[in-house]
Amino acid sequence: MGRRFTLAITGASGSGFGVAALKRLAANAEVEMVTVLFSTTGRRCLAEECHLTEQELAGLSPKIQLQSERDLGAAISSGSHRQDGMAIIPCSAGALGRIASGTSDTLVARAADVCLKERRPLVLCLRETPLNRIHLENMLRAHDAGAVVMPIMPSFYYGPKSLEELFDAFATRVLDQLGIIEDDTRRWKG
Ligand SMILES: Cc1cc2nc3c(=O)[nH]c(=O)nc-3n(C[C@H](O)[C@H](O)[C@H](O)COP(=O)(O)O)c2cc1C
Repeated sequence: MGRRFTLAITGASGSGFGVAALKRLAANAEVEMVTVLFSTTGRRCLAEECHLTEQELAGLSPKIQLQSERDLGAAISSGSHRQDGMAIIPCSAGALGRIASGTSDTLVARAADVCLKERRPLVLCLRETPLNRIHLENMLRAHDAGAVVMPIMPSFYYGPKSLEELFDAFATRVLDQLGIIEDDTRRWKG
């Protein structure tokens, strides 16, 4: 049985990181399906920073299924639906706050809540700086509830030649956290 993941792009700068992770997930032979959701501001950031629409993104692979963030009856809203984990890239401070408080009021927040209660990997790639006390406390709450808090802090030791390479190398680390371990020559070799 192939593996199924959810990838959400919320309203923070750095949607290119989300696009790179989505491409890598969709290209992986172990992966059967990637459910993709956008918050309203996430969609806007994708247009402004990547000049892409969600439909164009969905067209990249037949494995990608777009899901409306307003549909709280979607399959990923339920723990009974077979899922292997979720990544939110970029994760806004607002989305982090909703997840840390368990509001479950949007599909992003609900699907993340389901991952936590079902003990499935949930990777939160927060993008905000500087951080206030509320952000820091929310990160700790999410961590204590089982999430991997993985702020967008890319590595530079392999000498990235382009933004795309920076995004893609970060995607390797996100996939690691989802349990999809791929070869990557940019890994640190000591
Ligand atoms: C162009 C744009 C860029 C933004 N960048 C960030 C950001 O980098 N980090 C962040 O936490 N919020 C950022 N925001 C604010 C969030 O989008 C806003 O708080 C929103 O309500 C978050 O909700 P969402 O997670 O449902 O998108 C940005 C908003 C806009 C319009």
